[in-house]
Amino acid sequence: MAYSEKVIDHYENPRNVGVLDKNADNVGTGMVGAPACGDVMRLQIQVNDAGVIEEARFKTYGCGSAIASSSLVTEWLKGKTLDEAQAIKNIDIAQELALPPVKVHCSVLAEDAIKAAIDDYRNKRNKPEQA
Ligand code: FES
Repeated sequence: MAYSEKVIDHYENPRNVGVLDKNADNVGTGMVGAPACGDVMRLQIQVNDAGVIEEARFKTYGCGSAIASSSLVTEWLKGKTLDEAQAIKNIDIAQELALPPVKVHCSVLAEDAIKAAIDDYRNKRNKPEQA
């Protein structure tokens, strides 16, 4: 199976690999795994006071398509509101990277990771202040 040029580009030059402080109250962390293959993706977003994502980082232990999918979404996430980020669909990722059908679940992992990171951020924000 041949990887598309975009997959190879993101795989060889992944954007925004790294870690944000998961304890910071403006950071959301999403950690998801794909049962089919055991690959794991961690995606983090840093959100400013206006509700806009200003930083995104990922670490992916997985296949080339999973790494490319997470690298791509960190680029897409920056500058988006949480609602806009929530609207990113795996199909957008799969199309952009020209993923073959057997690799579509790798883009699903990226969509799930975005949603998990947003949920984590929102849960943190909704927590009552500690007295
Ligand atoms: Fe499972 Fe790519 S093969 S995430």
